[in-house]
Amino acid sequence: MKIAIINGPNLNLLGTREPGIYGNQTFDAYYDHLKKSYPQVEFQYVQSNIEGEIIDALQKFGFAVDGILLNAAAYTHTSVGIGDCIKGIDAPVIEIHISNTFSREDFRHRSYITPAAKGLIVGFGLDSYRLGVESILSAK
Ligand code: DQA
Repeated sequence: MKIAIINGPNLNLLGTREPGIYGNQTFDAYYDHLKKSYPQVEFQYVQSNIEGEIIDALQKFGFAVDGILLNAAAYTHTSVGIGDCIKGIDAPVIEIHISNTFSREDFRHRSYITPAAKGLIVGFGLDSYRLGVESILSAK
């Protein structure tokens, strides 16, 4: 079982970035914990602040893994290119958000990812990623 995690802009700052919204754990610490919890899963991880690099990662993993957890961060609300890319790859994409985007500003209520994604997990803090892993495992 292969699962790729792709994180978009500013998620490299988790731990210090707006801790009241995103918590105070770094993604690296969380990712270590996730890998230990699922020894049967081969994880791959990419974080990029650049839209085209996220598309490159989706194209690369989209024909090589069983599922992708994508937190496109701010690009969720702006990127036609990422939405189009998801439609063109084989692997199911689960859209992930740490915060409940629907309880925040109006511009965060729109997603170019959701119509192309298999499903959406939003608002459970970093645990949203574990729930995403569970959804891929239970679909197999
Ligand atoms: C986010 C929500 C987005 O609106 C925001 O731009 C982010 C993080 C989340 O995980 O809650 O950077 O995707």
